[in-house]
Amino acid sequence: MSATLELEFPFPVPPKKLSEPEKSDYTLRCKKIIEDNNAVLIAHYYTDPEIQRLAEETGGFVGDSLEMAKFGANHSAQTLIIAGVKFMGETSKMLSPNKRVIMPTLEATCSLDLGCPSKAFEEFIKQHPDRTVVVYANTSAKVKALADWVITSSIAVDVIKHLDAKGEKILWAPDKHLGRYIQKSTGADMLLWDGHCIVHDEFKHQALETTKALYPDAEVLVHPESPTKVIELADHVGSTSQLINAAKQSKAKQMIVATDQGIFYKMQQAAPDKELIIAPTAGEGATCKSCANCPWMKMNQLKNLSEIFENSDNEIFVDGDVIEQALVPLSRMVGFKK
Ligand code: 13P
Ligand code: SF4
Repeated sequence: MSATLELEFPFPVPPKKLSEPEKSDYTLRCKKIIEDNNAVLIAHYYTDPEIQRLAEETGGFVGDSLEMAKFGANHSAQTLIIAGVKFMGETSKMLSPNKRVIMPTLEATCSLDLGCPSKAFEEFIKQHPDRTVVVYANTSAKVKALADWVITSSIAVDVIKHLDAKGEKILWAPDKHLGRYIQKSTGADMLLWDGHCIVHDEFKHQALETTKALYPDAEVLVHPESPTKVIELADHVGSTSQLINAAKQSKAKQMIVATDQGIFYKMQQAAPDKELIIAPTAGEGATCKSCANCPWMKMNQLKNLSEIFENSDNEIFVDGDVIEQALVPLSRMVGFKK
């Protein structure tokens, strides 16, 4: 059973490509403003390599969405710069309401967040009062405030196993593919919202079988926001950090990777001897739109980051009552032990 919501997701205009001298110049400016303002840069693996490198070189952090949230909450800096998408900034703000949380642009959103408006979701919840409401971190602060639990893909299966063992029936939103994957892995009773990630939704299982035939010794790494038939072809399924770890541990020399290509920067660092091959996003006759590049993650650029303290419109604010309610499920997320 699922709730249907037809929504278009207009892609943002791709940012202007910088020349190598421009990149060096903006990198220096970014380093200076981060240091001068005692800030820390927390980046997701899907941002451009130069943003991830900047986080590494300035004592910041690159990680999956749960690790980013925990790192920001535990760091002593009073200013957190979140290079990712808006829900990541909001989560950091709610976990550290007294810190200043800023982003290179607040326009960087996520199709899962856009596909689950809080009003429509509240109605859906009202229709199913007997269910425990579990939402993905890729949702707005208001949607989180309606939930009993917030989870990320790194803990999704374990949390639902835990709730299922207590006999709880689940209402899950927004990613239908991740929801189906959790349902199959746990056998839990789950009612699914009908959302999808525009990036992972494009991976094609038939074309992936062709790629596997071309690289018969390769292992397949898949993020669980991908379609079920793509997940079924995987050797490893997990969050971005879990996929990097799998590439590092694997004995295979080649990895076919079904997630955003930004992950290659850190995956190659972790597994320097491996050949990384992006999973196909276009089958026969099909054309990809995102082509394994989240258009919103790519809005985090050296230029807008270097100007981050000159703007007043890129700070995250969340209403106090929303924070108060959302902190209940968020605390369960950060406190959950496998
Ligand atoms: P991770 O929690 O695996 O980093 O995923 C976040 C995300 O947005 C994937 O598309
Ligand atoms: Fe959202 Fe998909 Fe982009 Fe992740 S890759 S931020 S789920 S649109």
